[in-house]
Amino acid sequence: MAPRRQEYGAARSVGARNSSVLGFRTVSSGSVRRGSAVLPSVLTFLVIVASGGLLLMIEKGMLNSMQTPSPRGNGQRLRFSGQVGKHDAAAVDVESQILQEIRNRTIRSMCRQKNMPHSIWSLSPLQRKTLLQHILVNDEYRFLYCYVPKVACSNWKRVLKVLSGALESVGVNIKMDHRSDLLFLSSLKPDEIRYRLRHYFKFMFVREPMERLLSAYRNKFGEIESYQKKYGVEIVKRYRKGRAKDTSITGDDVTFAEFVRYLLDEDVERMNEHWMPMYNLCQPCAVSYDFIGSYEHLERDAEFVLQRVGAPSDVHFPERQTWYKPVTTETLHYYLCSLPQKLLRELLPKYILDFSLFLYPLPNTTTEHCRH
Ligand SMILES: *[C@@H]1O[C@H](CO)[C@@H](O)[C@H](O)[C@H]1NC(C)=O
Ligand SMILES: *[C@@H]1O[C@H](CO)[C@@H](O)[C@H](O)[C@H]1NC(C)=O
Repeated sequence: MAPRRQEYGAARSVGARNSSVLGFRTVSSGSVRRGSAVLPSVLTFLVIVASGGLLLMIEKGMLNSMQTPSPRGNGQRLRFSGQVGKHDAAAVDVESQILQEIRNRTIRSMCRQKNMPHSIWSLSPLQRKTLLQHILVNDEYRFLYCYVPKVACSNWKRVLKVLSGALESVGVNIKMDHRSDLLFLSSLKPDEIRYRLRHYFKFMFVREPMERLLSAYRNKFGEIESYQKKYGVEIVKRYRKGRAKDTSITGDDVTFAEFVRYLLDEDVERMNEHWMPMYNLCQPCAVSYDFIGSYEHLERDAEFVLQRVGAPSDVHFPERQTWYKPVTTETLHYYLCSLPQKLLRELLPKYILDFSLFLYPLPNTTTEHCRH
């Protein structure tokens, strides 16, 4: 078991820093063959990701100036040639700009692979249906937004309603029915779909995959009775010893480990949207997004999009709701570390495209790490 642990551990450090890129390489050449069938592909992805970043930094002449990346940015800002241009209200700091570019390159280079879809018409009918049902259309400002549940999508839906005139302001305090007042790409004809995909500004938002899963788990199984009934009961029956025939199960006490077991047995293409991989929801190879924002930089990325599509200057992305309980680093650490590590390692390959395409390092699953 030890070598695998090391590999995932090493993979965690794939980021914008050259030292970790090099560190990773050393490990990958040593122990690939011993891993399970899934590992080589994990490693291939990560090597592409890592080398993309390295190339970019060489190109930008950044290796020399990068030894001491300051976590807070220190007010030291840099703007890349016309990439963001005049739409950029807030100055964008170096690290996140690099991340954007590496993400962009990673997606392009991985999507060029033969077995990846190159247009929505090369998806299977089920894949295409899922995708089109997750793309929201705004004709007035000519953009498409692929929504990912648990990545601030309700707030985006509010913004879309304000932009289409269905809602007065983003702050209106109502629980909304998102089905009405929103136009989904799935309700348009193929010609109309084709036109919008070609000419509209297309964007999506991503989030650290495990954090998103944990958020879904805590919200759905902790708070929403319909989910407890629909999924919770089934999960307890399947994965808790001696409960298969129990009729008194309420499904309100599903553990995170049980939830993960359930995910392992599910087909990613048929999962509930709250835990379906972001890749499958938005198909970033079949749709060439113009912008991929992240939950980690939500406010700034959202404002960028609003300016980019030409939204009225009084329309802003809503603040976090006060009832919102964020998943903290400590919470995530707690859940991931209390999970049997075997389960976590089996789970990661299911979400590997979310990690590798959107450039999230794999979680550190060493016992060492979990002791802290
Ligand atoms: C990636 O880069 C290209 C070329 O600069 C740009 O047109 C595209 O919008 C970018 N895509 C994303 C997702 O950032
Ligand atoms: C994993 O965590 C341990 C303990 O915190 C640390 O020593 C190790 O360097 C980490 N591995 C990576 C690759 O981040």
